[in-house]
Amino acid sequence: MASPAPEIYTGALDKGLEGVVSSSTAISSIVDATLNYRGYTIEDLAANSNFEEVTFLLWEGRMPNATELAALKKELEANMALTPEQIKLLATLPTKGVHPMAWLRTAVSSLALWDNESQSMEAPEQRRVAIRLTAKMGTLVALFDRTRAGKEYVAPKPGKSLAWNFLYMLKGEEPDAGMAKDFDTCLVLHADHELNCSAFAARVTASSLSDIYSAVTSAISALKGPLHGGANEQVMLMLKEIGSLDGAREWIKEALAGKKKVMGFGHRVYKNGDPRAKVLAQLSEKLTAKMGEPQWFQMSKEIDDVMQKDKALLPNVDFYSATVYYSMGIPIDIYTPIFAVSRISGWLAHIFEQYSKNRIFRPRGQWMGKEGLKWTPIDKR
Ligand code: COA
Repeated sequence: MASPAPEIYTGALDKGLEGVVSSSTAISSIVDATLNYRGYTIEDLAANSNFEEVTFLLWEGRMPNATELAALKKELEANMALTPEQIKLLATLPTKGVHPMAWLRTAVSSLALWDNESQSMEAPEQRRVAIRLTAKMGTLVALFDRTRAGKEYVAPKPGKSLAWNFLYMLKGEEPDAGMAKDFDTCLVLHADHELNCSAFAARVTASSLSDIYSAVTSAISALKGPLHGGANEQVMLMLKEIGSLDGAREWIKEALAGKKKVMGFGHRVYKNGDPRAKVLAQLSEKLTAKMGEPQWFQMSKEIDDVMQKDKALLPNVDFYSATVYYSMGIPIDIYTPIFAVSRISGWLAHIFEQYSKNRIFRPRGQWMGKEGLKWTPIDKR
């Protein structure tokens, strides 16, 4: 006997799945204004942990001991560099007028073609793929920026963290320890965020039992949009357009009156504030003062104030990260790729979780179109 058709839920129809719980997960959780990775608060991890340790935590579900962390760091270090063949091919991709996220999407996808374990569904092979992707994401972003500026590829240095090496490979000079530490904190803050748009995209692709590279390429594509990872770049462009503290309040009020969305504010889940924004606001204040351009933080505070008073909207992770990256001298269109340099760790955790209890994602559509039409020959239409 055929089983009865499953009940159809239409409560979130055309509302971006708002309120829909798509998957059970043990990777990260949002409870009111708190974000936890595997049960640890983001504040605790930002203050005490580092990106490599957080990556282990997200993948394995527990903190590493010293030997395990040292082993992971070594594996990442060993896989950070690109091969001469990869550099040669990537150098042929256009960069002029190309958004770095579009380039990164193609670059990550191309790496699969060199990886003879890319199609494996076995855990040890998949873990090695995860190491390679996590290790190389920053190298790719740095290569993009150098290639478009006509500069040579800078190979990573052994014995240094992913954060340190990213800044080194991007700029071609060693970052000071303080900047590398602050950048590492940014990576910790961006590493995962429950069932966000790009993690969901990764899981949807993984749910067809497609490979890790395909799932990560889907995630990069989703992250690229201005409503998701693309917002941090838009925030800095907005601050540049406003130009000075004097005009900030008026500019935002006008934007709101014109029903414009102000990038870096609002959130589908956090209604009482994004905890990452609080940590990033402190970093922004410190770093803009250190670079001698405190006006960027002051303008941000002014905008934050208007948004809270006039719209009851609070800043999200993208608002203060913009001025943090700006203070570090990172090109503005590289901010979204940085999100990927960190979020690759969370995407991989989600892909593994999806594989571990998979059922293909296949929602329904509510039919709104015409019915019963009959084909007619083209000369009769
Ligand atoms: N600026 C101005 N108004 C905003 C806003 C913003 N940044 N974010 C939300 N709103 C308003 C919407 O216009 C809408 O108002 P309305 O009900 O009068 O139409 C209301 O608040 C609800 O917003 P909505 O876009 O439906 O929320 P959402 O849950 O679908 O989207 C975001 C969440 C994050 C996509 C949305 O807040 C946004 O676009 N923010 C700017 C982009 C951004 O910073 N993205 C990074 C996310 S981490």
